[in-house]
Amino acid sequence: MSDTSINAEMEARRVSRREFIKRVIASGAVASSASFVMGGLAGCSPRPGTVAGSVERLISLNVNGQLRRVDVLPQETLAMTLRYKLGLTGTKLSCDRAECGACTVMIEGTTYYSCSTLTHSVRNRKVTTIEGLRGPNGELHPVQQAFVDELGPQCGFCTPGQVVAAVALLQKNPRPTREEARHAMSGNLCRCGAYDNYLNAIMRAAGNTAEIHHGA
Ligand code: FES
Ligand code: FES
Repeated sequence: MSDTSINAEMEARRVSRREFIKRVIASGAVASSASFVMGGLAGCSPRPGTVAGSVERLISLNVNGQLRRVDVLPQETLAMTLRYKLGLTGTKLSCDRAECGACTVMIEGTTYYSCSTLTHSVRNRKVTTIEGLRGPNGELHPVQQAFVDELGPQCGFCTPGQVVAAVALLQKNPRPTREEARHAMSGNLCRCGAYDNYLNAIMRAAGNTAEIHHGA
């Protein structure tokens, strides 16, 4: 194969990977982990450990700028409410015990693990999920666009949590150094090891192009 055709093939693969990433980031649509599907698709039914006789209570939540009325169990986590009662499946569940960051959301601008936050505790507080970051016409948030431009995700499972954590960081520190971003993002694990891509994306979103490192 000639150098020209090899280059053309490599470019075609790069474009199709960019398209894949764009779709993942726009929708937050990646498969749930198998372990959670087993526990969660039993649906809105209580998980093992739910106290028999627990009673749901109708409460109002402010999610992505909308008031949502929802029935919530006393011990229900925000991740469960978001995913299985409000249909906001962009928030992922993986470890379900505050270790990985896949379920990261913002509450009043600060990141929280929604798997370890009781829904009742966020009443009267503003919750922002990955779905709440898009623009009024559905356009990507600048941080999401930077993740696309830097080919951030691999499988994409951790990406919604990474994006939310990056947005929260840049709201508090609009021009972080790469080291500051690495520290701020340390609560978000990526099993694919795409950390450098994510840091490049954050540097791009922050306009700190001097700290974008390719091919290190
Ligand atoms: S699913 Fe919440 S921290 Fe892992
Ligand atoms: S991109 Fe696969 S877990 Fe992070």
